[in-house]
Amino acid sequence: MRMPGDIEALFEPLRIGQVEVPTRIVMPGMQRGRSVDGHILPEMGDYYARRVRGGAGMIIGEGCCVDHWSSAWDPHFPRMAEDTVSDWAYCAEAVHAAGGTMLLQLSHPGAIRSESQALPSLPGPALSASGLYMRGKTNGRAATTEELDEIRRAFVHAARLAIQAGMDGIELHACHGFFLDEFLWAQTNVREDRYGGLSLAERATYPAEVIAAISEAIGPDQILSVRISQWKEVDYDAKIAETPEELAILLAAFEQAGANLLHVSARRFYEPAFTGSQLGLAGWCKQLSELPVIVVGSVGLSSDVMASLVGTPSKGLPLDHNLRELNARFARGEFDLVAVGRSLIADPDWPSKVRAGQFDTINSFEKSQLGIALEMEPQMIKDVHG
Ligand SMILES: Cc1cc2nc3c(=O)[nH]c(=O)nc-3n(C[C@H](O)[C@H](O)[C@H](O)COP(=O)(O)O)c2cc1C
Repeated sequence: MRMPGDIEALFEPLRIGQVEVPTRIVMPGMQRGRSVDGHILPEMGDYYARRVRGGAGMIIGEGCCVDHWSSAWDPHFPRMAEDTVSDWAYCAEAVHAAGGTMLLQLSHPGAIRSESQALPSLPGPALSASGLYMRGKTNGRAATTEELDEIRRAFVHAARLAIQAGMDGIELHACHGFFLDEFLWAQTNVREDRYGGLSLAERATYPAEVIAAISEAIGPDQILSVRISQWKEVDYDAKIAETPEELAILLAAFEQAGANLLHVSARRFYEPAFTGSQLGLAGWCKQLSELPVIVVGSVGLSSDVMASLVGTPSKGLPLDHNLRELNARFARGEFDLVAVGRSLIADPDWPSKVRAGQFDTINSFEKSQLGIALEMEPQMIKDVHG
């Protein structure tokens, strides 16, 4: 079967800052919980380079905890600190040698930190905007202003170390209900100081400060991607922006702060973000800002990521429908890059096989390929999935 539409366009380079990304296919950050004492395994360099040889132009290293006690809470998750720089340098080198580019995703779990998995030696409970992971559901407490200053510095420090490791930039994890996203979402940010407020513009203040501080530290030549989403791991129907107008305000704040790439996470890339238009969230972001945009969400698969991880995989739309839709939207200029998650775990050659129309030879994704423990508390999973 030949690929419908102009697949070749996805194999053209794109320049962001001073970085030349060789193809439009991105491997998004995918935490596999296999680190040892915060160090990723040496085999991860080859794992990532293998995906570049299969046609991915950009690798985003799995969600890496910034070095603050409230963030680096589980030794199975990688962290970015002085003693882990060489692990990531090895990955960046392997990816570059294969001809690709690499960002490191910097993450903090906020109130979705699992207390049953957290190290007993930690000096305190989960910290977040308001101690909430959804309305009325508490975990830990609100971070004080001093703690927010510390955490901002931890993000900046991790970004500096990532560049020192040879990364082409970093990505801020500001989606899926994690720490920075908990500031954006009205349900999880009920602060009464300058980091809270009724408007999204007010709630974006702290994440924008983190972006600005990182931008100042790493400069404009490197990639500073910000990953956003409406949906949360704990609420699929959540919205940080109720209208395109609100979304525009958020994007302007992030762009002004120094973001030069937007990674727009949806469960299904083709679903309309707002009523009255077929545009997905990535399409809206592209329309409302000047920044290049990565689209993601069920590009290579018919069931969405959370169905794969914690539920029963849902019956979705077939691959050829998704690819046809993807090509059509790319041709209309709705995004610049395409992230492919689970399919690239399952098959490092997914991009080149799709390009060659070798659909029958694509290895399919199975949850057993992950071997990770779920991060969410049983109670949280029950809240969400019944
Ligand atoms: C095992 C696994 C781990 C993930 N870890 C992260 C992560 O660390 N950071 C993040 O932003 N998204 C994470 N995600 C979400 C993916 O980046 C991606 O958005 C999602 O899988 C949807 O893309 P897909 O439909 O192509 O799989 C993870 C997904 C999977 C399957």
